[in-house]
This record gives sequence, C-alpha cells and structure tokens, in this order.
Amino acid sequence: MNLQGRNQKQREFFNSKIDTYDDDHSEFMKTKEAITENLEENVERILDLGAGTGLELISLFEKYPNVKVTVIDISENMLEKLKTRSFADQVTIICGDFFETDFGKDYDAVISTSALHHFKQVEKAILYKKIFDCLKEDGYFINCDRIALTDEFQEAQLYLLENEIDKHKHIDTPITLGNELYLLKETGFKLITLNDVDKEEYKLIKAMKPRRG
Ligand SMILES: C[S@@+](CC[C@H](N)C(=O)[O-])C[C@H]1O[C@@H](n2cnc3c(N)ncnc32)[C@H](O)[C@@H]1O
Repeated sequence: MNLQGRNQKQREFFNSKIDTYDDDHSEFMKTKEAITENLEENVERILDLGAGTGLELISLFEKYPNVKVTVIDISENMLEKLKTRSFADQVTIICGDFFETDFGKDYDAVISTSALHHFKQVEKAILYKKIFDCLKEDGYFINCDRIALTDEFQEAQLYLLENEIDKHKHIDTPITLGNELYLLKETGFKLITLNDVDKEEYKLIKAMKPRRG
C-alpha cells in the first residue's frame, strides 16, 4: 500500500476512535503538556501537526491565551471535537494530509504530539524538510512522540507496515532516537535538545532552524 493509501487508512482509524480517544489518551497528558513547557515565551504563531482533538492545546492556550495556532489533521472527526473546545475560534483548522497540504510559512514554532510515528524514515525526511521550510529563522520544531527503543523494534514494525498492513487496523512505525536526530541534522536543524517525559518510549525533541549566513 502506498503512502496515500496508508494515510487514508489512518484517517479511517482515527475517525473510528473519536468516542474513546480523549479517555484513552488521558494517561498521556504529560507528553502533551510538555510541549507548552518547552515553548519560548515570545511565541506568537504556531503550526500543530496532527492536533487531533486538541489535547495538547488545552495547556498551551492556558499559558499563551493570545497565541495563533494553525492545525493540520487528516481526521475530520477528531477535528470536529477540537472545534468544541473553548479556544477553537483562535485556531485555523485545515483538514488534510501532511504530505498534500501546504504548511504556510513564518511560524515561530511547529509542534506535534503522538502524530508522526506512522511513517517510514524516508517519508519523515520529506516531512521534516517541509517543517524546516515553514519556520522563521530562529523558529523551532518541538516533537513529543514515540520512539523505537531498539533497532530491532523499528525494523519489526516496518516489516509489518510493508508486508502485513491489510491484517492490521493501525501500525505504529516509530524510529530510534539515533535515527530521529540524524534526520533532523540532515534537514539543517541545530541546537537539538532532548527531554524525557514520563513514558519510557516517548521523547520530546526540540530543534531550531538557524539563521542563514
Ligand atoms: C494519536 S493522534 C494525536 C492527536 C494529538 N496530537 C494528541 O496528542 O492527542 C494522531 C493524529 O495525527 C493525525 N494524522 C495521522 N496521519 C496524518 C497525516 N498523514 N496527515 C494529517 N494528519 C495525520 C490523525 O488523524 C490523528 O488525529
């Protein structure tokens, strides 16, 4: 199945999860609040990739009530829930696939939680270039997401994605921390910092787009 087909499968999966998603993710709230804790105080414009129902935006708008946020997400049902949040009128909502949607430009920060571990490494490289290009100079990308704790786990999940996708509703394909850092450096990001969150298989990675010259 190609990337477009897999992304539509993700859309169907998250559309079907809407009734239980927020409850299922209540144990992951620290991984979402960690985004707010790592924003710079002067942040004004943010792009949130895969915001879903907007759980990471709850603490974000509490701390930064005047911030402007654009979200891109492929699941219309997840976004319908986001539209019911108190801060929804400050959010520009785009329902679309990361790989087919224009990200806009000049963001202070691109954020993402639990949304980018569904792609192959080569696909992530394309996404990280789009993220880099839509940031201002000195802007930063904060991703709090699942990582593979071993090379073997990364390879095993990739095998499932490439060979057994029809047997599964959903396959996570996290890559190792080493591969994440390699991709970010190859893209041009600098000042890459890491934070542990309360889940062993999660890391918060913050990476800056440097000034030219
Ligand atoms: C696990 S949810 C995370 C939602 C939210 N960030 C959170 O932490 O609760 C992953 C989200 O990414 C979205 N997503 C997955 N693949 C996508 C793609 N190719 N383009 C746009 N959104 C995508 C899904 O629709 C879903 O809402």
